[in-house]
Amino acid sequence: MKRIGVLTSGGDAPGMNSAIRAVVRKAIYHGLEVFGIYQGYNGLINGMIKKLELGSVGDIIHRGGTILRSARCAEFKTQEGQKQGIEQLKAFGIEGLVVIGGDGSYRGAKALTDLGFPCIGIPGTIDNDIPGTEFTIGFDTALNTVIDAVDKIRDTASSHERTFIIEVMGRGAGDLALWAGLAGGAETIIIPEDSYSMDDIKRRLLKGHERGKKHSIIIVAEGVMSGNEFAQKLKEATNMETRVSVLGHIQRGGSPTAADRVLASRLGSRAIELLLENRGGLAVGIEKNKIVEHDFSEIFRENHQVDLNMYKLSKELSI
Ligand code: F6P
Repeated sequence: MKRIGVLTSGGDAPGMNSAIRAVVRKAIYHGLEVFGIYQGYNGLINGMIKKLELGSVGDIIHRGGTILRSARCAEFKTQEGQKQGIEQLKAFGIEGLVVIGGDGSYRGAKALTDLGFPCIGIPGTIDNDIPGTEFTIGFDTALNTVIDAVDKIRDTASSHERTFIIEVMGRGAGDLALWAGLAGGAETIIIPEDSYSMDDIKRRLLKGHERGKKHSIIIVAEGVMSGNEFAQKLKEATNMETRVSVLGHIQRGGSPTAADRVLASRLGSRAIELLLENRGGLAVGIEKNKIVEHDFSEIFRENHQVDLNMYKLSKELSI
């Protein structure tokens, strides 16, 4: 293999730039030429492809977003779109592709591999919802962004003796909500992976009030319902006035944490090693602090799990 491509796809995540840098530098270190594909699969179909040099990825390790830009591309879900993508890659003499993104991006990468074009997936999403890896690039940074917001909201919640409902991202996964809830000392965490009981929430809030606690933080994962919907339900059940904060896309931005930069560097490096071994159809990940790889098909067979012991612990600590 002489030439490889790299693209970022789906929702951007802090640390994607660190991963691009690792892919480009490791590939060049091993004598490969690297081409950046801009705007995800959309750019692949439309030939938005440019050669990257060592300097192209200078001064980006600490930057949020992705220099390659990203997109969600419906056209790439069709075999016609995928074949067009392969034509573009071939026109540039590219023989292998690294795809940095989440579930949808992996599905595109698997489709290309099934059509005979080797791809390696690197998990980049703030949702931490990809099987085959304990952490995705961007999760740690987003978590720290959420915690920063929770700490600030706690200040005003305490001054005004209010209950705040904070809606966090995560699509169908509760990881951000759960980790932020545990790290931020939330009284209640609502995640899609477990049911909740309004009676139980009411009982816990009243118990807190009885022992003099005047403010509370409730974290709701967007995959369950919106913060506003939850506030409405809580009002119906308790007549309690609350304030709602929807953190939204600030969770996707910002300079990646050291943990995300290191993870991105390690995963990017492994992706290139696999392509150099002429292996494709694999997604890299981290398990027990070791870099691992799994077949895409294996990953799609599994469902992402949250750590329900952590969920239990959060309840025990917020009595
Ligand atoms: O997958 C990352 C994510 O930020 C999810 O947490 C969220 O549900 C979704 O993307 C939002 O997507 P968009 O930016 O396309 O609205």
